[in-house]
Amino acid sequence: MAKAQLLFPPDFLWGTATAAFQVEGNNTNSDWWAWEQEDGRILHNHKSGLASNWWADAEQDLDAATEMGTNAHRLSLEWSRIEPEPSVFDAAAIARYREILQAMHDRDIEPMVTLHHFSNPLWLVEKGDFSSQVVVDYFQRYTAKVVDKLGDLIPKWITINEPMVYVFMRYLAGVFPAGKQGGWSGALRAIPNLLCCHAAAYHTIKEKLPEAQVGVAKNMVVLQARPGSSALSRWGAGRLSWLFNNMWLDSVMNGRLYFPVGRRKIPNLAGSYDFLGLNYYTRFYVNLPPVGDLISQEWEPGAVVSDGNYGEVYPIGLFQMIEALLPYKKPIYITENGVPDKEDRLRSSFIMTHLREVWRAISFNYPVMGYYHWSLVDNFEWDRGWTQRFGLIELDVETQERRLRRSGRLYQEICHSRSLTSQQAQKYAPDLLQTIFRGESPTQVVH
Ligand code: FCB
Repeated sequence: MAKAQLLFPPDFLWGTATAAFQVEGNNTNSDWWAWEQEDGRILHNHKSGLASNWWADAEQDLDAATEMGTNAHRLSLEWSRIEPEPSVFDAAAIARYREILQAMHDRDIEPMVTLHHFSNPLWLVEKGDFSSQVVVDYFQRYTAKVVDKLGDLIPKWITINEPMVYVFMRYLAGVFPAGKQGGWSGALRAIPNLLCCHAAAYHTIKEKLPEAQVGVAKNMVVLQARPGSSALSRWGAGRLSWLFNNMWLDSVMNGRLYFPVGRRKIPNLAGSYDFLGLNYYTRFYVNLPPVGDLISQEWEPGAVVSDGNYGEVYPIGLFQMIEALLPYKKPIYITENGVPDKEDRLRSSFIMTHLREVWRAISFNYPVMGYYHWSLVDNFEWDRGWTQRFGLIELDVETQERRLRRSGRLYQEICHSRSLTSQQAQKYAPDLLQTIFRGESPTQVVH
């Protein structure tokens, strides 16, 4: 095969992503820290401990990110560090965040900052966290503090990470703190409260920093009925897909609460987003009418499945989910995409096939502006503890030693060349050569 290259636009952002609780270590004022101490909450009772040691030394991984050739990184701030007690703001914690953000700028890595990524201050939990309306004022005040103290270093913002995943895992599945406390009624209160928190944060940021770009990070899952299912199953899967993937975004676009019934207007919500963050991992089949689990963990023959039965590798789903975001009419960033793969057997192919879908979307003139791989370094994977390794950099949790995975070297080649090439495929994923470059002329240039 002749040499082929799929080139990305010159201003495309090549990034990686992390979240505070997962990498910083010693986040003792967070509800996740308390949760970890309870027997049986985390797989194998793993503890986050020092995590990836970012509180002490984020800089070493940022150095590696620079070497990798990235120019963007998505990180989050830990609310429980910044405001360990209600109205008590920790100047030292804020100073450390300034240092980390400055370290990114010094390395020409543009920060995208998430204000809430799954973890809560313990004091907020006592006040009912997101199932109580009081959260809205607290979240607004926390945001105002961040804007005031760190805003000059933050060009891109995400208000809340994966709100629907949070609601599902926290209130319905019960695998996030505080278990299922609140259940369905808690979930139904949390949804409008999360929307109000988002709107409050959006306007608080934009008032002071009109140039800032503020978005949401939405986990999008391909939810489908199995091939050959009845019309009823397909209809059911479609409704579930709307509920999980679109309902939140429809609300933010139109300023209305669509679930469970009615279309209550939420003030200041309509249009409160400058971009969309797409977190994409996998496809699931839906069993409707329910037989066994509603969301199936069984795959069709031939499916490639990642560690711990986490999910199927389904690259075209990324393209489909990009298309699903087009009606919201804003620039799109892939704010997370990755695979749990300790032995690094899938990640190189995963990166190439998923980036090919991003390239294809751009070649249709879809507004995809950047890609943040989850994750830069192995980190504490919530209820699955240290069992799932998403890092381009492998971490030995005991010694804190690091090693760039082979797939990390591939990502490095991709970032430096701003393209996918047949040489990379030959070297890192030879069996994919035809799939990735099929039908493309020797050099494809996309602007
Ligand atoms: C996403 C989360 C992120 C990480 C990845 C694997 O849903 O936002 O923190 O856990 O999954």
